[in-house]
Amino acid sequence: MEKIVLVTGGAGYIGSTTTKLLQQYDYKTITLDNLSSGTRDLNKSDFFYEGSISNEKLLEKIFSTFEITAVLHFAASSLVEESVQNPKKYYENNVVGTIKLLEKMLEFNVKKIIFSSSASVYGKPKKIPIREKTKTKPLNPYGRTKFFIEEILKDYHTAYGLSSISLRYFNACGTEKDLEVGEVHTPETHLIPLLVRAALENKPISINGRDYETYDGTCIRDYIHVSDLANAHLKALNYLEKKEACLRINLANEQGFSILEIIQALEKILGKKIQIKNSPRRPGDPAILIGKNETAEKILGWKTQITNIEEIIKTAYNWQCSNRFKELTALIDKNPSISSSILKKNQTEQQEFY
Ligand SMILES: NC(=O)c1ccc[n+]([C@@H]2O[C@H](COP(=O)([O-])OP(=O)(O)OC[C@H]3O[C@@H](n4cnc5c(N)ncnc54)[C@H](O)[C@@H]3O)[C@@H](O)[C@H]2O)c1
Repeated sequence: MEKIVLVTGGAGYIGSTTTKLLQQYDYKTITLDNLSSGTRDLNKSDFFYEGSISNEKLLEKIFSTFEITAVLHFAASSLVEESVQNPKKYYENNVVGTIKLLEKMLEFNVKKIIFSSSASVYGKPKKIPIREKTKTKPLNPYGRTKFFIEEILKDYHTAYGLSSISLRYFNACGTEKDLEVGEVHTPETHLIPLLVRAALENKPISINGRDYETYDGTCIRDYIHVSDLANAHLKALNYLEKKEACLRINLANEQGFSILEIIQALEKILGKKIQIKNSPRRPGDPAILIGKNETAEKILGWKTQITNIEEIIKTAYNWQCSNRFKELTALIDKNPSISSSILKKNQTEQQEFY
C-alpha cells in the first residue's frame, strides 16, 4: 500500500527537512502550509497546498483527494514573546487549528498523528536532565498551546482511538547535509542562526542576561540537529504504522551549552572574535534546559547522530553561506510564494567547514 502523509507546516524549517527525508523513504508527501512563517520554495513535497489547517473546506479537499495514512503536524505559531503579547493568535492558530485538523482526520478515518511539541511544556524544571516524567508547567502561552494539544491528543486517543506521538523537541538547529533545505525564519529568534549572521556581518550578538545561576552566567540549552529530528519523525511514523499509541517523547542532544560556549565554538571554527552586546534577561527564560532521550531510544530505537556542537554549528554556518540560502532570503523579501522553478541549483561560494 502506498504511504501518503500529510505534512502541515511543511514549508517551515523542521517540516521541510523532514519532508525531504520522508521522500527518500518513498513516502508520498502532501504539504499544507499557509506560509505565515514558511517559505514555499523550501518545500519539496509531491503536492503543495497553500492554506491554513483551520480551513475546513481545504482540509476536506485534501482528505478526499488522497488516501492519507498519517499526519505530521508541524504547523504552528512559535514565537514565545509574541505569544505573551498576543495569546489569542496562539490559541486560535495552534489549539483551535489543531482541533479542526483532528476533526477532519477522524471524519476520514485517519488515525495517526505525529505532533511537534516542545521542551517549553516543562517550563522551569527543578531537576536537570529533563525526562518525560518531569512535571509539565509551561511558562507562556506558546508552551501552553503545546501542553493543551498534548492533553487533547490524550483524550482523543481514549475516546476516538486516535494514535499520536508528541515529540518534545529541545532547541532545533543546524542544516541537513545537502544544504538544500534549512532555517530561514523571519524574524529569526534562535541563537545559532543569529550568531552566524552576526559573524558574517561583523555585527555584535546580543546575550540576554549574564547573571543566571550557571557556570558562566549565561543560559544553558540543549541543541539538537534538525537531521536527527527528521530521523526521529521517520521512526515515530514507523512505530505508529505498527502500533496504536499515545506517547510523549523528548528529542534532545543530552548536552547543555551556555550561550558563551556557543559563541566560543563559532569563534574557534572561524578563527575570529565575535562582538558581544549585553542585554537584559528575557522574562521567563529558564537558566538550564537539558533533555534526556531514554524513551526515544527505548521505544523508537532512535539515537542522535550529530552530537558534536562544532559540527552542528558548521552546518548552520555553511547553510547561511550557501547560494541557496541567499536566494531564498532574497525571495522572501520580494514575495514568499514565488515559484521554485527560478531557483538555481544549490552551490556554495564561501568556504565550507566540515
Ligand atoms: N525550531 C525549534 O527549535 C522548535 C522547538 C520546539 C518545537 N518546535 C515546533 O516545531 C514546529 C516546527 O517548527 P519550525 O522551527 O520548523 O517553525 P517554522 O515557523 O519554520 O514552521 C512552521 C510552519 O507552519 C506554517 N504554519 C503556521 N500556522 C499555520 C496554519 N495555521 N496552517 C498552515 N500552516 C501554518 C508556517 O508557515 C511554517 O511554514 C512548530 O510547531 C514549533 O512550535 C520548534
